[in-house]
Amino acid sequence: MMTPSDVKATLSFSDGSASMDLPLYKGTIGPDVIDIRKLYAQTGKFTYDPGFLSTASCNSTITYIDGDKGELLYRGYPIEQLAVNCDFLDTCHLLLYGDLPNADQRTDFHGRVTNHTMVNEQMQFFLRGFRRDAHPMAILTGLVGALSAFYHDSTDINNPEHRDIAAIRLIAKMPTLVAMAYKYTVGQPYMYPQNDLSYAGNFMRMMFATPCEDYKVNPVIERALDRIFILHADHEQNASTSTVRLCGSSGTNPFAAIAAGVACLWGPSHGGANEACLNMLGDIQKMGGVAKVGEFMNQVKDKNSGVKLMGFGHRVYKNYDPRAKLMRETCHEVLGELGLQNDPLFKLAMELEKIALEDDYFVARKLYPNVDFYSGIVQRAIGIPVPLFTAIFALARTVGWIAQLNEMIGDPEYKIGRPRQLFVGAGRRDVPPLSAR
Ligand code: CMC
Repeated sequence: MMTPSDVKATLSFSDGSASMDLPLYKGTIGPDVIDIRKLYAQTGKFTYDPGFLSTASCNSTITYIDGDKGELLYRGYPIEQLAVNCDFLDTCHLLLYGDLPNADQRTDFHGRVTNHTMVNEQMQFFLRGFRRDAHPMAILTGLVGALSAFYHDSTDINNPEHRDIAAIRLIAKMPTLVAMAYKYTVGQPYMYPQNDLSYAGNFMRMMFATPCEDYKVNPVIERALDRIFILHADHEQNASTSTVRLCGSSGTNPFAAIAAGVACLWGPSHGGANEACLNMLGDIQKMGGVAKVGEFMNQVKDKNSGVKLMGFGHRVYKNYDPRAKLMRETCHEVLGELGLQNDPLFKLAMELEKIALEDDYFVARKLYPNVDFYSGIVQRAIGIPVPLFTAIFALARTVGWIAQLNEMIGDPEYKIGRPRQLFVGAGRRDVPPLSAR
């Protein structure tokens, strides 16, 4: 809840125009906000903050990040505790409904999600329209958008029951869609969901099983995948979540709003970083591996090279990303289970991390490994192809997107999002005749 503060911010101008008092609000934790909603009406001026460096776009009760401490809380619970004591579907319940499920709620929620894992059979024909070599994120953006054409009974966003069923459907169907996108690109038959398996186990089977052989879920890999899902489930107002909120603020179909989130996540500065990180490790490996790390780091530090250390740095974390610590632990477990401790890319990643954590360039800029630095190595070890990494991220983040979308729509104060601009183009002018142009 936003609590008004006794303190007011006073905005004054050096040209003698009247100053203005702006109200301040306190959150539960984190910085106060200055309420500028009446600024334009009272001063005729906008604020300017491209990239939202200092702007809170909403109030929210879902996720809190303290970037300086390296802390991430879902509904108040630290990510370290959730990753160890809960599974992904418990986390989904937490994000959607505000608290962890008790035993009855757990059975009910797991059952509801499980009952929605199949997708309409027509989706297969829709999928067939894609080239076999299409990027999985291109396919996923299309498939999620297409869901809006299949579920006409859950699209009244003003009806809380419709919002709830759309959320359950999205969480349930994302693994099926991601696995279908993968099977399509490798030319294997789709595997239907098997509902007596866990959420992660079912996904593994849909990905890696074929109709010709029995498939046994490896519990270490199952747990690792579940952890990847938990760690990526929400991350407050990042680019894709803000995209979903902005898109959904027009009152659009919820599946279409989530498709917008998938599209935004694809970019290499956001969810695409895990794919970019693994490609970077592969490139250094081709250059000569660990011996070439110094040379590569010099390129990263040279501003003119355009080379970045992918998997490092974060807009909010100015400390070690807490998700990266957990993913590092999972990385060791998975590589141990699969006998890949000597994997050259893993060794290379460890070397890069060591150097970067000691190098002045990274220390001065507070650049630490983010979750993507390790998640790619884990996924690759599990057998997930590199271009599918961001689709796995999208699968996991879907619950965060829909929880944030539903929170926004349920807020009586919500309005369509409509940023302003500082116009710096040509002033009004007349169209000259063609001969004079
Ligand atoms: N490698 C080298 N230099 C970097 C890096 C990096 N990965 N990240 C930031 N910097 C430098 C940047 O050049 C700037 O230097 P200077 O002050 O000398 O101009 C300084 O650090 C501050 O960076 P910034 O670009 O102002 O920071 P930002 O908040 O706009 O960008 C970021 C954040 C995540 C886009 C950026 O750190 C980056 O591109 N990292 C690599 C991509 C990546 O791993 N993204 C995944 C983010 S975590 C998953 C998710 O939430 O989606």
